Amino acid sequence: MPPDWPRGRTASGRPADQRLASPVEPAPDDTDAAVTVRPVMENRAPSGRPLSDPGVVDRLGADLRAAGYSADGVTALLGDSAHRALGRDELAPALRATRDRSRLATLTRLFLLGAAEDEPVVRRVLPRTGVADALAQGVLERDGGRLRAALDIRPYGADAEEFLLVSDLDSDTRPGPVRRDHVLGVGAASITLARAVIREPVDRALDIGTGCGVQSLHLASHAGSVVATDTNPRALALAAATARLNGQQWDLREGSMYEPVAGEAFDLIVCNPPFVIGAGEMRFSYRDSGLAGDGLCQALVEGIRPYLRPGGSGHLLANWIVREDTDWRERVGEWVAMTGCDAWVVQREMADPAEYVGLWLTDAGEDGKSAGADAERAVTLARNWLDYFAAERVKGIGMGTITLRRNDSGSPSVTLDELTGAGEDVTGAEAAGFLRRRAWTEQRTDAQLLASRLALCPAVILEQRSLLGHEGWTTVLRMIRRQGGPGATLQLDQWGQSLLAGCSGTVPLQVLVDLLATAHGLSPEALAAAVLPSIRVAVIRGLLEPA
Ligand SMILES: C[S@@+](CC[C@H](N)C(=O)[O-])C[C@H]1O[C@@H](n2cnc3c(N)ncnc32)[C@H](O)[C@@H]1O
Repeated sequence: MPPDWPRGRTASGRPADQRLASPVEPAPDDTDAAVTVRPVMENRAPSGRPLSDPGVVDRLGADLRAAGYSADGVTALLGDSAHRALGRDELAPALRATRDRSRLATLTRLFLLGAAEDEPVVRRVLPRTGVADALAQGVLERDGGRLRAALDIRPYGADAEEFLLVSDLDSDTRPGPVRRDHVLGVGAASITLARAVIREPVDRALDIGTGCGVQSLHLASHAGSVVATDTNPRALALAAATARLNGQQWDLREGSMYEPVAGEAFDLIVCNPPFVIGAGEMRFSYRDSGLAGDGLCQALVEGIRPYLRPGGSGHLLANWIVREDTDWRERVGEWVAMTGCDAWVVQREMADPAEYVGLWLTDAGEDGKSAGADAERAVTLARNWLDYFAAERVKGIGMGTITLRRNDSGSPSVTLDELTGAGEDVTGAEAAGFLRRRAWTEQRTDAQLLASRLALCPAVILEQRSLLGHEGWTTVLRMIRRQGGPGATLQLDQWGQSLLAGCSGTVPLQVLVDLLATAHGLSPEALAAAVLPSIRVAVIRGLLEPA
C-alpha cells in the first residue's frame, strides 16, 4: 500500500510508533473506579447528528477511560501477534484475544473490531453512558438481538499523548460501500501529514477538511487556537465529539476550502484534502472533491497565501496528474509559483492509473469483492474511471507533500524533489531544517560561504562504488548520505570528498580550499568555483552544518 493513501481507518494505517505510551493510568478492569470527566463543554455537535449530546460524550469518555481503553491498554490486551495481525486487517487473532469479555476486551471488540455483543455485556461496559443513550446518540445500533458499534471510537497514541478519536466504521469492519458522507478515521495519509507538520508554537492554526479531527488534535498541542473546517456536517459532528472527548476546544466551521475563514489569517494551515483524482463526480465526501482532475489540490495551493500570516506555513497532502510526455514538476511548480511562497514539494509515489483506481475502489468497499457485492458495478466504475484517465492522457498520479512558507521578499525559493526511498518521509523537523538551511545558503555570497565554518553532520556516511581494472580498484561513485534525511544525499568527486573530510567546523572553508589546492598544485580560485555548488547543496540537505 503506498504510504500516502488513506485506508479507511484500520489499525493497519498506523505505524507502530504511533501507538505510543499512554499517560492514562488504566483503572482495574472490574472495578468502578472514579473517573474524571474532562471539563470542556463548548464543542457541541449539531443535534440530530451522532454524539450531539455533550453529556453523553462526557459519560462515554469516562466509561472508556475507566476500562483502560487506551492505545497501550489495547496493545497489551491483544498481545504483539494479534496486534500485528490487526495491522494486516486480520481480525480473527484479536477477536480470539478478547474472548474473556472483560470490560476492555468488550470495548475493543465493539469499537475496534466491529463485533456484535449481547446487550447485558454491553450494558456492563457502558454504565455511565447507558445503552439507551448510546443508541439514541448513534454510538450503538441493534444487530438482531445484539448490539454493535455504529461508530469507530479508538485510542490514538501520538506525540507521547493519548487521545480518543471518533469516526465512521470503515469498509473492513463494515463490509460493503461506505456512506456518502463517510467520515474517515486516522489512516496512513493522516499520519503522513501529521508527521510532516512543523511543530513550533504558533498563535492561530487552521485545519481544512478536519474529518474526525486528527490533525486538530495534533495542532492543539502547539497552537493557541485551532479553527477546523469541513464541508461535511457529519464530519463536524464527529470532530466535535473527538475534541470534547479529549478536553480540547476547536472553532468548528462548515464550508469549502478557505470560504469559512474569509478575511482571516493563520500562522499554520494544514490540509489533508479529498485529493482523489477523477472526472469530478462526488460519490464520497472524504475522497471526492467534486472538481475534475486535481482541481481541488490546485485551488488549495494557489489560494493559500492571503490566509497565511507573514512567516506562516502551510502543509498539504496532494495528488496531481502526471500527463504523458510531461514532468510532474512543471504542473506542481506552477501551482506553488502562484503563491509567491517558499516551497518544498516532495513527490513520494507515482501510481499508474489502474493501480490507483483499484486501490480507491477497495478503500470505499466498491471493488465488488465482499460477499453479495455488485461485481458488475465494480467493473463499470473502474472502466469509466480508466476511460477518464485515458482521455486526459494521464500517465500516472503523483502524490506527495507540499510545504509552503509565506515569503514577503518577492523572490521565493522553490524546490521540487522526487524522493521515493522508504526512509525518506518528510517530517516537520526535516521540513523546518530544510527551509532554514536553504534560506541561510541563499543569503550568502560565495565569499561569505568560504568565510564560514562548516561541520559535517555526525550522521553522514560515505558510500563508494569501485570497478576492478588492470590497475586494481577504481572508485567510480562517491556519495554521502545522512541516514533518515529526505533527499539528504550528494554525489561527490575526489576534491569534494577530500574537502568534506576536513569540515569539522574549526576553520573557515577557505582555509581548507587553500590547503587542498596547495597540496595538489591547483588554483584555489578554480577549486573554490568547482566545489562551492556542491557545498551549497550539502548545507541545504543537512549534510554540512554551519558551526
Ligand atoms: C481525506 S479526509 C481528511 C480527514 C482528516 N483531516 C485526516 O487528516 O485524516 C478529507 C476531508 O475533507 C473534507 N472535505 C471535502 N471537500 C472539502 C472542501 N471542499 N473543503 C473542505 N473540506 C472538504 C471531507 O469531508 C473530509 O472530512
